Amino acid sequence: MKITVSLIKADVGGWPGHVKVHPKLLEIAREELEKAKKEGLIIDYFVFNAGDDLQLLMTHTHGVDNSKIHELAWNTFVKAAEEARKLKLYGAGQDLLSEAFSGNVRGMGPGVAEMEFEERPSEPLIVFAADKTEPGAFNLPIFRIFADPFNTAGLVIDPRMHKGFKFHIMDVYEGKIIELSSPEEMYDILALIGQPGRFVIKYIYSKDPEIGIAASISTERLNLIAGKYVGKDDPVCLIRAQHGLPAVGEILEAFAFPHLVAGWMRGSHHGPLLPVPLKYSQCTRFDGPPRIISLGFQLSNGKLVGPVDLFDDPAFDYTRMKAMEIADYIRRHGPFEPHRLSAEEMEYTTLPKVLEKLKDRWRKVGPEAKKAWAAGELTESHE
Ligand code: F6R
Ligand code: MG
Ligand code: MG
Repeated sequence: MKITVSLIKADVGGWPGHVKVHPKLLEIAREELEKAKKEGLIIDYFVFNAGDDLQLLMTHTHGVDNSKIHELAWNTFVKAAEEARKLKLYGAGQDLLSEAFSGNVRGMGPGVAEMEFEERPSEPLIVFAADKTEPGAFNLPIFRIFADPFNTAGLVIDPRMHKGFKFHIMDVYEGKIIELSSPEEMYDILALIGQPGRFVIKYIYSKDPEIGIAASISTERLNLIAGKYVGKDDPVCLIRAQHGLPAVGEILEAFAFPHLVAGWMRGSHHGPLLPVPLKYSQCTRFDGPPRIISLGFQLSNGKLVGPVDLFDDPAFDYTRMKAMEIADYIRRHGPFEPHRLSAEEMEYTTLPKVLEKLKDRWRKVGPEAKKAWAAGELTESHE
């Protein structure tokens, strides 16, 4: 049976500030998706939050980019945003960049990760959702899961994984995509994805055509869509596991290292990615640190059997301690790079408005200033 998994998310209002989703919004989303399930549009759903992002996980048989499914998500976000306005939640409706739905939520604000595949006799599905970071935050762990034998033992041991995987990498500035093959083109892959603000892993495919797609990551970058700062993009990711694909534990292993990602306070700072259980899916210290949750399901004819809250485990305590040590260290840099993002990334924040104020106060120095002084073009000495 061919199943489509769609994970569509949006920030339609925070409580308080940008901390988390209000329970009333989760309730509205559950009501809407329950109706759609009863009407037979979707097979199953699970509603949850990643910090201040409302997450709609849905299964159905309509394929990816289906307008009915996208419309269901859009209308659900619109309803939740209405409630957010009533409660005067923070930034109510912030990710709904368009007035009306036009066939597909891509490019309209919400983030989307979808995949369609033939459900295997047993189909483990791992869902990740991060807050206060960008889609490229998944580059490092996804590379480690599907290409690094020091992370994924199956790449060496399992003959079905020995050939490696295909990486589809998107240039989010140019809106282009490239397919590269691992391990043959591993260094080319790294040459791109080491710049996570621009090159983002979008899909992973198994080289076994019977398995097909293995992972899908949301790559929407709101700032590039809106042309101004509208928060970070808080990405989501779907990964199929086991039996010719990385084991659940190989997938989770990649998150045992709290790597530095872009986002955090004002979408302007690097910080460690903190794996947390759902109960801690709320951004507090310095609006963060950037957090990620992971939910495990078994699919049963499209039904979502689960979730298991996978980071709710002492096995990740050490990672969390390490992450907080890194958070503490990097925070002491205050407004300095590399805690603050590079100038190129800061263009999409409110910093350029501050710099604009200073633009007439710069004075020339050096030979240019001397020439201008001699020519009487300057009223005061500039050197
Ligand atoms: C990060 C984020 C927050 C806000 C910050 C300031 O993605 O959304 O860190 O940038 O709380 O928000 P405003 O400018 O709305 O007061
Ligand atoms: Mg927010
Ligand atoms: Mg968010």
